[in-house]
Amino acid sequence: MARDRDAIVAANRKAWDAAADHHRAHDQWRDLVEGFARPDYSCLDAVLTGHLRDLGLAGAAVAQLCCNNGRELISARNLGAAEAVGFDQAPAFLAQARELNAIAGQDCRFVEGDVFAIPAEHNGRFDIALVTIGVFGWLPDLAGFFAVAARLLKPGGAFLAYEEHPILNMFEPAQEDPQKPANAYFKAEPFVEAVSLDYYGNRDYDAPPHYWYLHRLGDIITRCVEAGLRLERLEEYPHNINAAEFDIYEDQPAQFPLSYALIARKRSLPVTAVQRSAR
Ligand SMILES: C[S@@+](CC[C@H](N)C(=O)[O-])C[C@H]1O[C@@H](n2cnc3c(N)ncnc32)[C@H](O)[C@@H]1O
Repeated sequence: MARDRDAIVAANRKAWDAAADHHRAHDQWRDLVEGFARPDYSCLDAVLTGHLRDLGLAGAAVAQLCCNNGRELISARNLGAAEAVGFDQAPAFLAQARELNAIAGQDCRFVEGDVFAIPAEHNGRFDIALVTIGVFGWLPDLAGFFAVAARLLKPGGAFLAYEEHPILNMFEPAQEDPQKPANAYFKAEPFVEAVSLDYYGNRDYDAPPHYWYLHRLGDIITRCVEAGLRLERLEEYPHNINAAEFDIYEDQPAQFPLSYALIARKRSLPVTAVQRSAR
């Protein structure tokens, strides 16, 4: 399993690194450069901002796992996080993150490496561990991922995922009838594709092959709980947070969920453990 996992992670790293220049060539990069030049700029939508604020963002230490170009993490810092550390394995995207961080005049830190191998020095340091939009599908090992998220959190810290709904993976917006389900929700094997990851500019290029998993919502929640995180909230939404091509699934008469927020909390130390550590 670990060897398969490492090979898949390495393939996905190449694919993401190759996408970085394409993302940079698009308007969204220019928007971020202009945006972060303004004090207090945030690219986060109202839903994510609301959840972060409810979790006590102001003054919190925040980790973002698979942070890409850091736009969300820097936004969280601008919104009042006391400390912000992003983890991702694509160096070309982390270079962009550091550039945006400098433009914003912020002090976010970006750590390069496989999320499954985040060094132990980060354990127990964060009040909030965040993942957003298009992360779970890249992960060949959900149990391993949630174990990492749990170890990064302080006791009582919160895990927050704001993600595209896995049901969306059943649909292919570019197919002849985009409303007809194209993939089984219960697909066990990953999609192996070499398609462009330029979901901003939709430019075709020779993308290195990469692996995407259709993790069911039930599996995501179960692996989360098994890692010792207590489920607090699961909200499903009818709005699209994925690439714009999926906007066609909004405002349907028989609407299915397009995104969701999952909040789970690492248990606080039991009173006896707190008393023991105070001695
Ligand atoms: C779709 S992007 C996240 C986009 C981000 N939420 C946003 O909206 O800007 C997925 C990210 O996951 C990262 N990633 C995938 N597998 C990873 C792994 N095993 N370790 C670290 N990062 C990983 C990729 O490098 C990529 O930057």
